[in-house]
Amino acid sequence: MDLHLNEATATEEERAAVDEVLGQPEDRWEGGERTHATGHFARGGSDDREMRHMLIPVLHAIQSHVGWISPGALNYVSLRLTVPPAEAYGVASFYSMFALEETPRTIAHVCDDIACKTRGADDIIAGLENDYGPEGEPSSGGSVTWKRSPCLGLCEKAPAVLFQMAGEGRRDFTLAPVTGDQLRSAVEGNGQERPTGSTPQSGSPGLRLIRRVGVVNPEDLDDYRAHGGYEALRRALLIGPDLVIREVTDSKLMGRGGAAFPTGVKWNAVAHAAVRPHYVVCNADESEPGTFKDRVIMEEDPFSVIEALSLAGFATGSEKGFIYIRGEYSEAHRRLAHAVEQARDRGFLGRSVMGHEGFDFDIEIRRGAGAYICGEETALFNSIEGFRGEPRNKPPFPVAEGLFKKPTSINNVETLINTLDIVREGGPAVAALGTEGSTGTKLFCLSGCVEQPGLYEVPFGTTLRELLDLGGGVRDGGEIQAILLGGAAGSFIAGDQIDVPLTFEGTRAIGASLGSGVVLVFDQGVDMREIVLRIARFFRDESCGQCVPCRVGTVRQEEALHRMARDGQASDADLALLSELELVMKDASICGLGQTAANAIRSAVTKLDVFGGAR
Ligand SMILES: Cc1cc2nc3c(=O)[nH]c(=O)nc-3n(C[C@H](O)[C@H](O)[C@H](O)COP(=O)(O)O)c2cc1C
Ligand code: SF4
Ligand code: FES
Repeated sequence: MDLHLNEATATEEERAAVDEVLGQPEDRWEGGERTHATGHFARGGSDDREMRHMLIPVLHAIQSHVGWISPGALNYVSLRLTVPPAEAYGVASFYSMFALEETPRTIAHVCDDIACKTRGADDIIAGLENDYGPEGEPSSGGSVTWKRSPCLGLCEKAPAVLFQMAGEGRRDFTLAPVTGDQLRSAVEGNGQERPTGSTPQSGSPGLRLIRRVGVVNPEDLDDYRAHGGYEALRRALLIGPDLVIREVTDSKLMGRGGAAFPTGVKWNAVAHAAVRPHYVVCNADESEPGTFKDRVIMEEDPFSVIEALSLAGFATGSEKGFIYIRGEYSEAHRRLAHAVEQARDRGFLGRSVMGHEGFDFDIEIRRGAGAYICGEETALFNSIEGFRGEPRNKPPFPVAEGLFKKPTSINNVETLINTLDIVREGGPAVAALGTEGSTGTKLFCLSGCVEQPGLYEVPFGTTLRELLDLGGGVRDGGEIQAILLGGAAGSFIAGDQIDVPLTFEGTRAIGASLGSGVVLVFDQGVDMREIVLRIARFFRDESCGQCVPCRVGTVRQEEALHRMARDGQASDADLALLSELELVMKDASICGLGQTAANAIRSAVTKLDVFGGAR
């Protein structure tokens, strides 16, 4: 196959970065030395194409070693993976954490998303512009630049910044909450991460999903076991896959990734799929603005994610699991990788897991690279396989054709860790918690203008008012202007709706949804127009562009909102346009991004009348 390589060649540093992931090239067909033997045969075909799934790990390696991905580096990657450079470019350019032009080796990603806006992000950015010039410009002798970023998943610690440092001493670290002075000092090379707690309830009686958070040593498998770890998998291995699925079904567990699909149904379908192999995937992409629950679990209780994915693997007859974690979550990634290694060393992963003959299971962690859409399950599969994160048409559904076109069960982090108590205690016991339609407990990401932002766990059915009270109420005794429920794909509700029970059915009854568990509070001091415009920009930026209703609709939606902000009120024509766009995006988009891109905006414009003139 002619890959159509161009003239550019990789530097030693770039080749070393690639070889660190793929190993040394064996022969000239992989970019190694031409020898007498390799000059006389051709290699390629399906064996080489099977390496395609290594494309994103390799791009990550170049980015972190060199700070950008040059045409020469892309040529070398193309040769090693048998991917034409045009395609490799198409993939690299899809992900915002990869730079295709030479950039300073340190990038400060400054969150200007909705939770950070309520905590001074705009002032911090104004200070940066003043001191270091516009976004993207090199500063500090050309070694650093700063960029605006969508939500970094650190909203309980807002305002937040992520430093991505390439080259020698490469590392990513976060500063949150950050002040202007701390940020300036970090830009000058004196960044110091300061760990702060995320779970105000830590150690309280009655917690289930987060009972170990802040209590257990996240780097110690023995400590995890001393706190009940691996009891669930041990019971699962005793009762067998069919009964595990029965318990999960009886618990009426609904997925926590946003779509609320019954987990038992999904696991059962994969377990009984005739095609082999089967895969289980943990969706840890968590890029919905306002959401940080999965990050806290992965950072503070990583073994629970490993155990739960192993349990899902056992139930569905899978030998391999993937954890796809968003690229910005460097600490969670480090903790999970450490946990996987320990589990493997101690026989909790690998051949005959926990000594159970016939259950071989291992886990691979894959990092995303800055694309919200990769949380959509089929986009996530494409990303693991080494393609652009573009959603696939459904059907076929993942349980029939998922990762590598094989039957796949994909679950959110929170969904998975729910299954541990379900198997330990039995499905009916968990079904008895919460309400008839929403069983068990739920994690909520409380942020914005509240006294104690953080991750909270409450039984389903707790009212929003009770949750806000747990978080100490509105900051400085202020008054609620609006609350965003469910994230950017969710909707705004008014301050007089806080007696809504937090259940799937309760929120549905008021035209809202629980989504990914976001509860973002805005007091009277927040400019809601700014917030709505930021959400519109988010959807316009993050649309993968594959289908017209979403690609064009998100742009037209943002334009209409800008007109309303400029004119100080919504015109009838723009209100009509927004409704029409909403209808088209809902009806004709391929995936949930386009289908939900108008939800929050509609609720802000029509229900809260944020721009005026809609009532
Ligand atoms: C645009 C978009 C982004 C999504 N992001 C996530 C995500 O970050 N994490 C997640 O678990 N599910 C996300 N989902 C939902 C997944 O497609 C899928 O429904 C979920 O992983 C299934 O797991 P569950 O059954 O445990 O909820 C997203 C969906 C869409 C349409
Ligand atoms: S709805 Fe939007 S994000 Fe989803 S496939 Fe279409 S263009 Fe891509
Ligand atoms: S970290 Fe800034 S909005 Fe979430």
